[in-house]
Amino acid sequence: MQHERVLVLDFGGQYNQLIARRVRDLKVYCDLKPCDMTVEEIKAYDPIGIIFTGGPNSVYDAGSPHIDPAVLQLGIPVLGICYGCQLIAYMLGGKVEHAATSEYGKRTFSFVKASPLSKGIPASSVCWMSHTDHVVEVPAGFEVLASTQTCPVTVYGSEEKRIYGVQFHPEVVHSEYGNKILENFLYEVCGAKGDWTMGGFVAEQVEKIRRKVGSKKVLCAMSGGVDSAVAATLIHRAIGSQLICVFVDHGLHRKNEPEEVMSVFRDGLGMNLVKADAAESFLSKLAGVIDPEQKRKIIGAEFINVFEKEAKKIGAVDFLVQGTIYPDVIESGKGKSAVIKSHHNVGGLPDVVDFKEIIEPLRDLFKDEVRRVGTELGLPDSVVWRQPCPGPALAIRIMGEVTREKLETLRGADYIFREEIAKAGLDKSIWQYFAVITNSKTVGVQGDFRTYENVIALRAVTSVDAMTADWARIPYDVLETVSNRITNEVKHANRIVYDITSKPPATIEWE
Ligand code: XMP
Repeated sequence: MQHERVLVLDFGGQYNQLIARRVRDLKVYCDLKPCDMTVEEIKAYDPIGIIFTGGPNSVYDAGSPHIDPAVLQLGIPVLGICYGCQLIAYMLGGKVEHAATSEYGKRTFSFVKASPLSKGIPASSVCWMSHTDHVVEVPAGFEVLASTQTCPVTVYGSEEKRIYGVQFHPEVVHSEYGNKILENFLYEVCGAKGDWTMGGFVAEQVEKIRRKVGSKKVLCAMSGGVDSAVAATLIHRAIGSQLICVFVDHGLHRKNEPEEVMSVFRDGLGMNLVKADAAESFLSKLAGVIDPEQKRKIIGAEFINVFEKEAKKIGAVDFLVQGTIYPDVIESGKGKSAVIKSHHNVGGLPDVVDFKEIIEPLRDLFKDEVRRVGTELGLPDSVVWRQPCPGPALAIRIMGEVTREKLETLRGADYIFREEIAKAGLDKSIWQYFAVITNSKTVGVQGDFRTYENVIALRAVTSVDAMTADWARIPYDVLETVSNRITNEVKHANRIVYDITSKPPATIEWE
């Protein structure tokens, strides 16, 4: 079945994928495509509406992206956002000017005329601006629909032509009724029915994967993390036992994790899942190592080593699955920034696996969309809502040397912390929460005896993307229970501290 669909034409702005995602959230399928699509290609795509995104240029810059004006004559509704809004005005004979000062941030705008775009939105509300140029005269046949004090043409449009321009960014959360404007464009202007759901996404991806893979073999490195788990489950739904997953048990996982991965994916879903038991080799390579970067490098290299051995047993495959999601795609395009930590992920695998092509079924999705796909596929909450865990796992939550004894103590403490956070109903609102075994011992008294044991730190942060984070304000009574339970139930821990540092200046993980 062909879904109704919207075309988001990319003029180079920062929030373009976010626009696409908002449209999908509003139950309308859409694709983000380069703005150099020809009119013929657009007609063939057959959208119910087109959105022109923002972009960093001025319409007057030499080399700024333009589009064939015939697009505006197709009779398809168009919404231009920021640069897109200026471009439409410019193409249709309106006037765009360079403002004396750029306008960034929150502004209050007011509608001056009702239109299908303003339905259900108060006369005045807050929007989020980020621009230097702005429209000063609307094209003939168009009307000014809203203004701010500094931007006289904040929204303009023509109900008859079904073409609108919005100077601010309706896709960002700071625009109070931004989502409503997008909804109005889709439902009031384009006449969308809203036939796009996560079920639709799953069905479409399953079809796509089946067509692509045919009867060939696919290999996946399963970490148990949300992204690789959802990617593998989606592919398994499409091609069943042609998918082979490898789970590397490096002996550094949290309590019960390897068991849970095997029970959900192999026993529950019937996946062809191989577990490589490699704890011995990881731990022996880590013996005596205390430098965090060295630990990370050893684990990254050993992971590839173990995976290569498993891949050799399996032999040549046609496809390698990667659980890449959209934020990873942006991150990797960010250019050169200082290396704070060398992240361990499955990035090195393509060099050691004999395969022809990479499949990335989640490449266009944001984290919460990935979780929704997971739920749609029937994965349990414990997998779908699993908090992010770094590739090197507990090795970088143990300060100093990684030993079996410290791993045991940390697993116990971490498990209790997780259990109590879940009991308090905080597990979905805290981004990450875990225990750390500090490399220091202190004196305690337990049962009239002196003890000299480890200090355990609890770390819990709120964040939206892990780039910045704040320490979570966990209620004292929850912390009290956690502290009591750890000191009573876990061996070799006699003092608990709570980390109250944000990122920056600290990082989320301790190493
Ligand atoms: P930091 O500690 O740098 O962490 O504030 C930011 C986020 O990244 C996770 N993290 C990792 N993820 N491989 C990963 O896949 C790694 O080596 C790694 N190190 C840190 C961390 O848990 C947090 O979510």
